[in-house]
Amino acid sequence: MKILAIETSCDDTGIAILEAKNGSFSVLANVVTSQFELGQKYGGVYPIMAKREHEKNLQPTLETALKEAKTSLKDIDFVSVTNGPGLEPCLWTGVNFAKNLSEKYKIPLVAVNHIEGHILVNILENPKIKFPAIALVVSGGHTQIILVEKIGKYKILGETRDDAAGECFDKCAKILGLGYPGGPIISALAEKSETRNSKSEIKLPRPMINTKDYDFSFSGLKTAVLYKDRDTKIKNKEYKENMAGEVQQAIIDVLIKKTTKAIKDYNAKTLILGGGVSANAELRKQFAENLGNINLVFPTPNLSTDNGLMIAIAGYFNRNKKTAWKNIQADGNLRIDE
Ligand code: KG4
Ligand code: ZN
Repeated sequence: MKILAIETSCDDTGIAILEAKNGSFSVLANVVTSQFELGQKYGGVYPIMAKREHEKNLQPTLETALKEAKTSLKDIDFVSVTNGPGLEPCLWTGVNFAKNLSEKYKIPLVAVNHIEGHILVNILENPKIKFPAIALVVSGGHTQIILVEKIGKYKILGETRDDAAGECFDKCAKILGLGYPGGPIISALAEKSETRNSKSEIKLPRPMINTKDYDFSFSGLKTAVLYKDRDTKIKNKEYKENMAGEVQQAIIDVLIKKTTKAIKDYNAKTLILGGGVSANAELRKQFAENLGNINLVFPTPNLSTDNGLMIAIAGYFNRNKKTAWKNIQADGNLRIDE
Protein backbone atom coordinates (compact mmCIF):
# COMPACT_ATOMS: atom_id res chain seq x y z
CA MET A 1 0.00 0.00 0.00
CA LYS A 2 1.40 3.40 -1.01
CA ILE A 3 0.38 6.52 0.91
CA LEU A 4 0.97 10.07 -0.31
CA ALA A 5 0.94 12.58 2.57
CA ILE A 6 0.56 16.35 2.53
CA GLU A 7 1.45 18.70 5.42
CA THR A 8 0.94 22.49 5.31
CA SER A 9 -0.24 23.41 8.83
CA CYS A 10 2.44 26.05 9.48
CA ASP A 11 5.35 27.21 7.31
CA ASP A 12 6.79 23.90 6.06
CA THR A 13 5.42 22.32 2.89
CA GLY A 14 5.85 18.58 3.47
CA ILE A 15 5.13 15.79 1.01
CA ALA A 16 5.98 12.18 1.78
CA ILE A 17 5.40 8.83 0.13
CA LEU A 18 5.31 5.82 2.42
CA GLU A 19 4.95 2.18 1.51
CA ALA A 20 3.34 -0.11 4.09
CA LYS A 21 3.62 -3.88 3.68
CA ASN A 22 2.45 -6.33 6.35
CA GLY A 23 2.81 -3.72 9.08
CA SER A 24 6.34 -2.65 8.12
CA PHE A 25 7.19 0.62 6.48
CA SER A 26 9.56 1.87 3.77
CA VAL A 27 9.99 5.58 3.39
CA LEU A 28 10.07 6.26 -0.36
CA ALA A 29 10.26 10.05 -0.06
CA ASN A 30 10.01 12.74 2.61
CA VAL A 31 10.48 16.16 1.04
CA VAL A 32 10.16 19.34 3.11
CA THR A 33 10.27 22.76 1.43
CA SER A 34 10.79 25.25 4.22
CA GLN A 35 10.09 28.97 4.27
CA PHE A 36 13.24 29.55 6.26
CA GLU A 37 14.28 32.76 4.48
CA LEU A 38 10.84 34.33 4.79
CA GLY A 39 10.76 33.46 8.52
CA GLN A 40 14.20 34.99 9.01
CA LYS A 41 13.29 38.14 7.08
CA TYR A 42 10.10 38.78 9.07
CA GLY A 43 11.11 37.16 12.36
CA GLY A 44 8.14 34.79 12.46
CA VAL A 45 5.32 33.18 10.49
CA TYR A 46 2.56 35.29 8.95
CA PRO A 47 -0.36 33.09 7.83
CA ILE A 48 -1.25 34.89 4.58
CA MET A 49 2.38 35.02 3.43
CA ALA A 50 2.92 31.39 4.45
CA LYS A 51 -0.22 30.34 2.56
CA ARG A 52 1.07 31.96 -0.65
CA GLU A 53 4.39 30.12 -0.28
CA HIS A 54 2.59 26.78 0.17
CA GLU A 55 0.62 27.48 -3.01
CA LYS A 56 3.91 28.01 -4.87
CA ASN A 57 5.71 25.08 -3.25
CA LEU A 58 3.14 22.27 -3.29
CA GLN A 59 3.35 21.21 -6.96
CA PRO A 60 7.20 21.24 -7.19
CA THR A 61 7.46 19.47 -3.80
CA LEU A 62 5.05 16.78 -5.04
CA GLU A 63 7.05 16.34 -8.26
CA THR A 64 10.31 15.95 -6.32
CA ALA A 65 8.70 13.41 -3.99
CA LEU A 66 7.27 11.32 -6.85
CA LYS A 67 10.62 11.38 -8.61
CA GLU A 68 12.51 10.34 -5.47
CA ALA A 69 10.02 7.57 -4.80
CA LYS A 70 10.17 6.46 -8.45
CA THR A 71 6.39 6.26 -8.51
CA SER A 72 3.39 8.02 -10.04
CA LEU A 73 0.02 9.17 -8.76
CA LYS A 74 -1.77 6.22 -10.32
CA ASP A 75 0.10 3.91 -7.91
CA ILE A 76 -1.03 5.78 -4.79
CA ASP A 77 -3.67 3.99 -2.66
CA PHE A 78 -4.77 7.02 -0.68
CA VAL A 79 -3.77 10.58 0.14
CA SER A 80 -3.46 11.59 3.77
CA VAL A 81 -3.64 15.30 4.51
CA THR A 82 -3.34 17.42 7.67
CA ASN A 83 -6.70 19.09 8.29
CA GLY A 84 -5.82 20.69 11.65
CA PRO A 85 -4.83 22.08 14.06
CA GLY A 86 -2.70 24.88 12.65
CA LEU A 87 -2.91 28.11 10.69
CA GLU A 88 -6.22 27.87 8.88
CA PRO A 89 -5.25 29.57 5.59
CA CYS A 90 -2.21 27.27 5.38
CA LEU A 91 -4.24 24.16 6.24
CA TRP A 92 -6.77 24.96 3.49
CA THR A 93 -3.99 25.16 0.89
CA GLY A 94 -2.93 21.57 1.63
CA VAL A 95 -6.52 20.33 1.96
CA ASN A 96 -7.55 21.90 -1.37
CA PHE A 97 -4.46 20.51 -3.08
CA ALA A 98 -5.33 17.04 -1.75
CA LYS A 99 -8.97 17.42 -2.85
CA ASN A 100 -7.84 18.29 -6.39
CA LEU A 101 -5.58 15.22 -6.57
CA SER A 102 -8.37 13.08 -5.16
CA GLU A 103 -10.92 14.27 -7.69
CA LYS A 104 -8.58 14.18 -10.68
CA TYR A 105 -6.94 10.81 -9.99
CA LYS A 106 -9.85 9.16 -8.10
CA ILE A 107 -7.77 8.57 -4.97
CA PRO A 108 -9.54 8.45 -1.56
CA LEU A 109 -8.53 10.89 1.18
CA VAL A 110 -7.79 10.47 4.88
CA ALA A 111 -7.83 13.57 7.10
CA VAL A 112 -5.08 13.56 9.73
CA ASN A 113 -4.67 15.48 12.98
CA HIS A 114 -1.25 17.18 13.00
CA ILE A 115 -0.69 16.40 16.71
CA GLU A 116 -1.39 12.70 16.12
CA GLY A 117 1.27 12.89 13.38
CA HIS A 118 3.84 14.28 15.85
CA ILE A 119 3.05 11.36 18.20
CA LEU A 120 2.86 8.50 15.69
CA VAL A 121 5.99 9.41 13.71
CA ASN A 122 7.79 7.72 16.63
CA ILE A 123 6.37 4.34 15.53
CA LEU A 124 8.79 4.33 12.59
CA GLU A 125 11.79 3.81 14.86
CA ASN A 126 9.94 2.32 17.85
CA PRO A 127 7.36 -0.11 16.47
CA LYS A 128 6.60 -1.65 19.88
CA ILE A 129 5.65 1.26 22.13
CA LYS A 130 4.20 0.12 25.47
CA PHE A 131 0.87 1.70 26.49
CA PRO A 132 -0.52 3.57 28.30
CA ALA A 133 1.88 6.30 27.28
CA ILE A 134 2.12 9.99 27.96
CA ALA A 135 2.90 12.16 24.94
CA LEU A 136 4.41 15.61 25.28
CA VAL A 137 3.92 17.51 22.04
CA VAL A 138 5.94 20.70 22.09
CA SER A 139 6.15 22.86 18.99
CA GLY A 140 5.84 26.41 17.75
CA GLY A 141 2.06 26.23 17.90
CA HIS A 142 1.31 23.64 20.60
CA THR A 143 2.28 22.46 24.05
CA GLN A 144 0.11 19.56 25.14
CA ILE A 145 0.37 16.64 27.54
CA ILE A 146 -1.71 13.80 26.11
CA LEU A 147 -2.66 10.44 27.59
CA VAL A 148 -2.26 7.81 24.85
CA GLU A 149 -4.20 4.72 25.96
CA LYS A 150 -3.41 3.08 22.63
CA ILE A 151 -2.94 4.22 19.03
CA GLY A 152 -6.10 6.18 18.20
CA LYS A 153 -7.26 6.71 21.81
CA TYR A 154 -6.16 10.05 23.23
CA LYS A 155 -7.04 12.45 26.02
CA ILE A 156 -5.56 15.92 26.37
CA LEU A 157 -4.58 16.22 30.05
CA GLY A 158 -3.15 19.71 29.88
CA GLU A 159 -1.89 22.38 27.54
CA THR A 160 -0.56 25.89 27.39
CA ARG A 161 -2.91 28.68 28.35
CA ASP A 162 -1.06 31.21 26.19
CA ASP A 163 2.19 30.86 24.21
CA ALA A 164 3.53 27.48 23.12
CA ALA A 165 7.02 26.43 24.30
CA GLY A 166 8.49 26.83 20.80
CA GLU A 167 6.83 30.22 20.47
CA CYS A 168 8.51 31.20 23.75
CA PHE A 169 11.92 30.14 22.39
CA ASP A 170 11.21 32.15 19.22
CA LYS A 171 9.95 35.29 21.01
CA CYS A 172 12.80 35.31 23.55
CA ALA A 173 15.33 34.93 20.72
CA LYS A 174 13.70 37.88 18.96
CA ILE A 175 13.93 40.05 22.11
CA LEU A 176 17.61 39.12 22.46
CA GLY A 177 18.23 39.95 18.77
CA LEU A 178 19.29 36.39 17.95
CA GLY A 179 17.28 35.54 14.81
CA TYR A 180 14.65 32.99 13.78
CA PRO A 181 13.70 30.25 14.54
CA GLY A 182 14.78 30.81 18.12
CA GLY A 183 14.85 27.21 19.40
CA PRO A 184 17.99 25.97 17.66
CA ILE A 185 19.80 29.32 18.18
CA ILE A 186 19.02 29.45 21.91
CA SER A 187 19.95 25.80 22.26
CA ALA A 188 23.39 26.37 20.62
CA LEU A 189 24.11 29.46 22.79
CA ALA A 190 22.91 27.68 25.93
CA GLU A 191 25.63 25.07 25.50
CA LYS A 192 28.21 27.71 26.37
CA SER A 193 26.24 29.31 29.21
CA GLU A 194 27.09 29.42 32.90
CA THR A 195 23.60 28.06 33.64
CA ARG A 196 25.19 24.67 33.09
CA ASN A 197 27.49 24.99 36.10
CA SER A 198 25.05 27.13 38.16
CA LYS A 199 27.41 30.14 37.98
CA SER A 200 25.00 32.39 36.07
CA GLU A 201 23.36 35.12 38.12
CA ILE A 202 20.42 35.42 35.74
CA LYS A 203 17.24 33.92 37.20
CA LEU A 204 13.94 33.75 35.34
CA PRO A 205 10.53 32.52 36.58
CA ARG A 206 9.18 28.99 36.01
CA PRO A 207 5.51 29.89 35.39
CA MET A 208 2.88 27.51 36.83
CA ILE A 209 5.53 24.98 37.90
CA ASN A 210 3.77 24.28 41.21
CA THR A 211 0.13 24.17 40.06
CA LYS A 212 -1.59 20.81 40.47
CA ASP A 213 -2.87 20.61 36.87
CA TYR A 214 -0.99 19.70 33.69
CA ASP A 215 -1.28 23.16 32.14
CA PHE A 216 1.46 25.57 31.12
CA SER A 217 1.91 29.30 30.63
CA PHE A 218 4.93 30.74 28.86
CA SER A 219 3.98 34.34 28.14
CA GLY A 220 5.19 35.50 31.59
CA LEU A 221 8.61 34.02 30.91
CA LYS A 222 8.85 36.01 27.69
CA THR A 223 7.82 39.19 29.55
CA ALA A 224 10.47 38.53 32.23
CA VAL A 225 13.07 38.25 29.44
CA LEU A 226 11.82 41.53 27.97
CA TYR A 227 12.17 43.38 31.31
CA LYS A 228 15.55 41.84 32.09
CA ASP A 229 16.83 42.82 28.64
CA ARG A 230 15.49 46.37 28.98
CA ASP A 231 17.28 46.79 32.32
CA THR A 232 20.61 45.35 31.15
CA LYS A 233 23.19 47.86 29.93
CA ILE A 234 26.04 45.63 28.77
CA LYS A 235 24.76 42.96 26.40
CA ASN A 236 27.93 41.05 25.69
CA LYS A 237 28.40 37.48 24.48
CA GLU A 238 28.34 36.12 28.03
CA TYR A 239 25.04 37.87 28.79
CA LYS A 240 23.41 36.39 25.68
CA GLU A 241 24.71 32.91 26.45
CA ASN A 242 23.50 33.08 30.04
CA MET A 243 20.08 34.41 29.04
CA ALA A 244 19.78 31.61 26.46
CA GLY A 245 20.81 29.03 29.06
CA GLU A 246 18.30 30.29 31.60
CA VAL A 247 15.41 30.58 29.10
CA GLN A 248 16.04 27.02 27.95
CA GLN A 249 16.34 25.69 31.52
CA ALA A 250 13.17 27.48 32.66
CA ILE A 251 11.21 25.88 29.80
CA ILE A 252 12.75 22.45 30.43
CA ASP A 253 12.05 22.64 34.19
CA VAL A 254 8.31 23.23 33.72
CA LEU A 255 7.97 20.68 30.93
CA ILE A 256 9.70 18.00 33.03
CA LYS A 257 7.77 18.78 36.24
CA LYS A 258 4.31 18.60 34.63
CA THR A 259 5.10 15.66 32.37
CA THR A 260 6.62 13.49 35.10
CA LYS A 261 3.55 14.23 37.25
CA ALA A 262 1.29 12.97 34.44
CA ILE A 263 3.46 9.85 33.98
CA LYS A 264 3.14 9.05 37.68
CA ASP A 265 -0.57 9.86 37.97
CA TYR A 266 -1.48 7.67 34.97
CA ASN A 267 1.09 4.86 35.52
CA ALA A 268 2.44 5.39 32.04
CA LYS A 269 4.93 2.90 30.63
CA THR A 270 6.35 5.19 27.94
CA LEU A 271 6.99 8.86 27.41
CA ILE A 272 6.63 9.92 23.78
CA LEU A 273 8.14 13.26 22.75
CA GLY A 274 7.17 15.07 19.56
CA GLY A 275 7.12 18.49 17.88
CA GLY A 276 9.92 20.88 16.96
CA VAL A 277 11.03 21.58 20.55
CA SER A 278 11.60 17.86 21.10
CA ALA A 279 14.65 18.28 18.81
CA ASN A 280 16.29 20.07 21.77
CA ALA A 281 19.21 17.91 22.91
CA GLU A 282 19.27 19.25 26.48
CA LEU A 283 15.53 18.60 26.88
CA ARG A 284 15.97 14.98 25.75
CA LYS A 285 18.99 14.49 28.02
CA GLN A 286 17.26 15.89 31.11
CA PHE A 287 14.09 13.87 30.45
CA ALA A 288 16.21 10.71 30.19
CA GLU A 289 17.86 11.56 33.54
CA ASN A 290 14.51 12.13 35.27
CA LEU A 291 12.46 9.17 34.07
CA GLY A 292 13.67 6.14 36.01
CA ASN A 293 12.34 2.94 34.44
CA ILE A 294 9.97 4.51 31.95
CA ASN A 295 10.73 4.07 28.22
CA LEU A 296 11.55 7.29 26.44
CA VAL A 297 10.99 7.64 22.71
CA PHE A 298 11.61 10.65 20.52
CA PRO A 299 12.05 11.21 16.78
CA THR A 300 15.33 12.00 15.01
CA PRO A 301 15.57 15.83 14.83
CA ASN A 302 14.38 16.13 11.21
CA LEU A 303 11.23 14.18 12.15
CA SER A 304 10.63 16.30 15.28
CA THR A 305 9.87 19.36 13.17
CA ASP A 306 6.98 19.40 10.69
CA ASN A 307 7.21 16.96 7.79
CA GLY A 308 5.00 14.88 5.51
CA LEU A 309 6.14 11.52 6.83
CA MET A 310 4.42 12.03 10.20
CA ILE A 311 1.16 12.57 8.30
CA ALA A 312 1.76 9.44 6.21
CA ILE A 313 2.21 7.26 9.32
CA ALA A 314 -0.82 8.79 11.03
CA GLY A 315 -2.73 8.27 7.76
CA TYR A 316 -1.78 4.59 7.81
CA PHE A 317 -3.28 4.16 11.29
CA ASN A 318 -6.43 5.99 10.17
CA ARG A 319 -6.72 4.09 6.88
CA ASN A 320 -10.21 2.89 7.80
CA LYS A 321 -11.40 6.51 7.68
CA LYS A 322 -10.94 6.96 3.93
CA THR A 323 -13.49 9.37 2.54
CA ALA A 324 -14.49 11.30 -0.57
CA TRP A 325 -12.83 14.68 -1.11
CA LYS A 326 -16.12 16.56 -0.56
CA ASN A 327 -16.22 15.49 3.11
CA ILE A 328 -12.93 17.02 4.25
CA GLN A 329 -12.67 20.44 5.89
CA ALA A 330 -9.70 22.23 7.45
CA ASP A 331 -10.10 23.20 11.12
CA GLY A 332 -7.45 25.38 12.76
CA ASN A 333 -8.64 24.39 16.25
CA LEU A 334 -9.03 20.63 15.68
CA ARG A 335 -8.57 18.65 18.95
CA ILE A 336 -7.05 15.18 19.08
CA ASP A 337 -9.62 13.92 21.59
CA GLU A 338 -12.87 15.05 20.01
O1 KG4 B 1 6.78 21.22 15.06
P1 KG4 B 1 7.30 22.45 14.43
O2 KG4 B 1 8.24 22.30 13.24
O3 KG4 B 1 6.14 23.39 13.94
C1 KG4 B 1 4.93 23.56 14.62
O4 KG4 B 1 4.05 22.66 14.52
O5 KG4 B 1 4.83 24.60 15.30
O6 KG4 B 1 8.03 23.30 15.59
C2 KG4 B 1 8.72 24.50 15.33
C3 KG4 B 1 9.23 25.05 16.65
C4 KG4 B 1 9.84 26.43 16.56
O7 KG4 B 1 9.25 27.24 17.57
C5 KG4 B 1 11.33 26.20 16.83
O8 KG4 B 1 11.97 27.30 17.48
C6 KG4 B 1 11.29 24.98 17.72
O9 KG4 B 1 10.26 24.18 17.18
N1 KG4 B 1 12.57 24.24 17.70
C7 KG4 B 1 13.35 24.08 18.79
C8 KG4 B 1 14.50 23.37 18.35
N2 KG4 B 1 14.36 23.10 17.02
C9 KG4 B 1 13.17 23.64 16.64
N3 KG4 B 1 13.19 24.49 20.06
C10 KG4 B 1 14.17 24.20 20.94
N4 KG4 B 1 15.30 23.54 20.61
C11 KG4 B 1 15.52 23.11 19.35
N5 KG4 B 1 16.64 22.45 19.05
ZN1 ZN C 1 4.10 20.65 14.26
